[in-house]
Amino acid sequence: MNYQHAFHAGSAADVLKHVVLIETLTCLGQKPKPLFVLDTHAGEGLYRLQADGEAADGIMRLWPRREEWPLLAPYMSAVGQHNGARLRNYPGSPLIASHFLRNGDRLVAVEQAPQAHAALQQALRSEHTQIFLGDGYHALKALLPPPEHRGLILIDPPYEQVTERSALLEGLKTALLRFRQGVYLIWYPIKDRRDADRLITVVSQLGEHLVVELLTWPADVRSRLNGSGLVILNPPFGLKKRLGEIVPTLAQTLTQDGIPRYRIR
Ligand SMILES: C[S@@+](CC[C@H](N)C(=O)[O-])C[C@H]1O[C@@H](n2cnc3c(N)ncnc32)[C@H](O)[C@@H]1O
Repeated sequence: MNYQHAFHAGSAADVLKHVVLIETLTCLGQKPKPLFVLDTHAGEGLYRLQADGEAADGIMRLWPRREEWPLLAPYMSAVGQHNGARLRNYPGSPLIASHFLRNGDRLVAVEQAPQAHAALQQALRSEHTQIFLGDGYHALKALLPPPEHRGLILIDPPYEQVTERSALLEGLKTALLRFRQGVYLIWYPIKDRRDADRLITVVSQLGEHLVVELLTWPADVRSRLNGSGLVILNPPFGLKKRLGEIVPTLAQTLTQDGIPRYRIR
C-alpha cells in the first residue's frame, strides 16, 4: 500500500470532506446524548503543507480570506489550532473530529499503514480517543453497534485498489445490518463521472441519503481529480440546509476555471 495523503492534505477534496464532517458533527451535537465517532481510514492526523502539494488549490485559497465567511469559522478554527501566524500545517479528519467532541463523546480512529498509524499516535493524544492499527472495514464489524447508540462513521478510503469499491460496499452493508441508525459519511473521488455515479447509485439505495459534491474542473478528463463528493446515509436534520449555505461559497472560491460547480441533493 503506497498511498500517502500528505500531498493531498488541505486539497479542495479535503476541504469539502472536513467541512461536511464538521457540519454533521455540529448537527448531531445539538442533542445532548453522547456520540460515538468512527474514522475508518484515519491517515496521519497532522500534515506539514507541501509547497507543491494540493493545498495550494484548497485551504491556501480560503485561509487568507477566512474572515469573509462566518459560516466557515468552525472549520477555520480547527485548522487554526494547528498553526501559528502562518498556515503551515493541516489537520486530518481525526484531529478535526476530536476538536468537536464534547464531554462524553468518543472517537475511534483506525489506520492500516504502520507509519501513518505511528504518526497519528503522536499527533492525537486525547482521553476521548482510541487509535487502532488495522483494517477500517473490519472495524465496522468489530465496533458497531456502539454502546452510545448514536454514531457518525467516516469512510474515506484511498480508492487505489480495484477491489476498494466492493470492500466498501460489503463493509457498509455489514455496518448497516449492525447499526442501522448510524450516520455514515462516504467520501468518493470524481474522475470519471460514470464511476462516481455508479457508486452513488449503489450507496444511495442503502437508505435515506444526501449527496454533496464539489467539482473544481468539469468532469471531462478521466485522468485528473475533477472533484469529490460524499454520500451521507441517515443525514441529520438541518444538514442539507447548512451545506446549502456553505458549499456554494467553496465552489466559487475553489473552482479552477472560474465556473462554480456543486451539487447538494
Ligand atoms: C484518504 S487517506 C485518509 C485521510 C483522512 N481520512 C483525512 O481526511 O485526513 C486514506 C488512509 O487510509 C489508509 N488505509 C488504506 N486502506 C485502509 C484500510 N483498509 N483500513 C484502514 N486504513 C486504510 C491509508 O493508509 C491512508 O492513510
